[in-house]
Amino acid sequence: MEEQTSLPELEHRPLSSPLKERALLVGIELPDGAGPLWKAEDSLEELTQLAYTAEVEVVGRTFQRLKRPHPGTLLGKGKVEEIGRQKEELDYEVVIVDYELSARQASNLEEQWDARVLDRPGLILDIFAQHAHTAEGRLQVELAQYEYLLPRLRGRWTHLSRQGVGGVGLRGPGETQLETDRRIISNRITTLKRKLEDVHRHRELYRSQRRRTGIPVISLVGYTNAGKSTLLNALSDADVLTADQLFATLDPTTRRVILPNGREVLFTDTVGFIQRLPTTLVEAFKATLEEIQEADLLIHVLDISHPNAPEHTETVQQVLQELEVQDIPLLTALNKVDRLGSAVDEAEVRGMAQELNLRPEYIAISALQGWGLDLLCQRVEQILDRQNAPLEIVIPYDRPELLSLFHERGHIEEQEYRNEGVYIRGRLPRRYLYAFEGIKL
Ligand code: GTP
Repeated sequence: MEEQTSLPELEHRPLSSPLKERALLVGIELPDGAGPLWKAEDSLEELTQLAYTAEVEVVGRTFQRLKRPHPGTLLGKGKVEEIGRQKEELDYEVVIVDYELSARQASNLEEQWDARVLDRPGLILDIFAQHAHTAEGRLQVELAQYEYLLPRLRGRWTHLSRQGVGGVGLRGPGETQLETDRRIISNRITTLKRKLEDVHRHRELYRSQRRRTGIPVISLVGYTNAGKSTLLNALSDADVLTADQLFATLDPTTRRVILPNGREVLFTDTVGFIQRLPTTLVEAFKATLEEIQEADLLIHVLDISHPNAPEHTETVQQVLQELEVQDIPLLTALNKVDRLGSAVDEAEVRGMAQELNLRPEYIAISALQGWGLDLLCQRVEQILDRQNAPLEIVIPYDRPELLSLFHERGHIEEQEYRNEGVYIRGRLPRRYLYAFEGIKL
């Protein structure tokens, strides 16, 4: 038996523009076998945040727990009808469903409710489109949007044409027009992919230059709104956009930071993660996410004050697993401890870390108040030092590959050309030490 429940009243939030689209949000709880189940209420709360970020006016919320999806409409018949009856009272123009809808489901629902229907991936894509600032970010989002649109084109178009709704790309002689639209979009996808390849080639060039400097790279990863940009700002003088919005920063930002021991490191802020990130987006942002794979250290920034901190942790761990970065050291920064009320002590932090099943390295901070940042930097130094071994050797002239390896992966403090070879003093990640076995000073 499917449970149909109503939600508590929405807290009042002032609206800045009277022209916002009026949206009804629909939460869904469906066992999908992937990780712990997000409760419909929690996920719907997040969808509400997403909706505010996308600047729509939320006029109502409702949800349904389902054992299995209904093929034609996802939601059960009763719920579909109930939402239809609310049309007059709520006067919604768009219904946002907290799940991924097939083209057929979306068009069936549009017909029943006489309103535009958007799903969670569609909404996230919309936000990404608003927030992409660099050329690369824009190309990635545009690609993801077209790939999302392509399989949905048929349902949307035929439905609108049946209703006699016109508009650019929505009129025309039936199937032929649809085919034309498809071809245009496919061509655009090909062009975007080619452009992105160019951008990625440049990025790879930049990365290999960066590698040659031997400066360690630390990637900040975490759920959207966890405080990554705030931390980056606090650690450097970077003016990265921070906002109480989801996905305020989309493009990876890299900043130079000098640690207390004088060592130079690079911190990069990456796109925030979220549950059920649209697959087309993951695909389009692969190159950005690949930056994470090159890092010497990952800092997982976690909003410990958030009621869904365990779910956020799980989502982040899943993405990191998909990126196959288990070998890179990970430090978890339990952020926003200032929100936990009275000063948190060590035992409490340990308790929270155990509850979340975190890897052994964690630290409590408040990026906003600047609490714990010195300690965080010290931990970063320690972890990097553990990874890097001091090395002083003379590389014979017939081993140029070792010289390149040291230059590309290590940090050179002194170098001198001698009769027997190149003398080098510096530091090298431990994982490369084996290559220098048998070579003496
Ligand atoms: P995305 O761009 O979505 O990935 O977010 P982000 O992880 O970069 O988060 P951001 O730094 O933009 O911070 C999100 C919100 O949390 C902002 O309103 C910050 O002011 C707030 N915030 C960040 N750190 C702290 C903290 O330590 N304490 C408190 N109270 N708020 C914080």
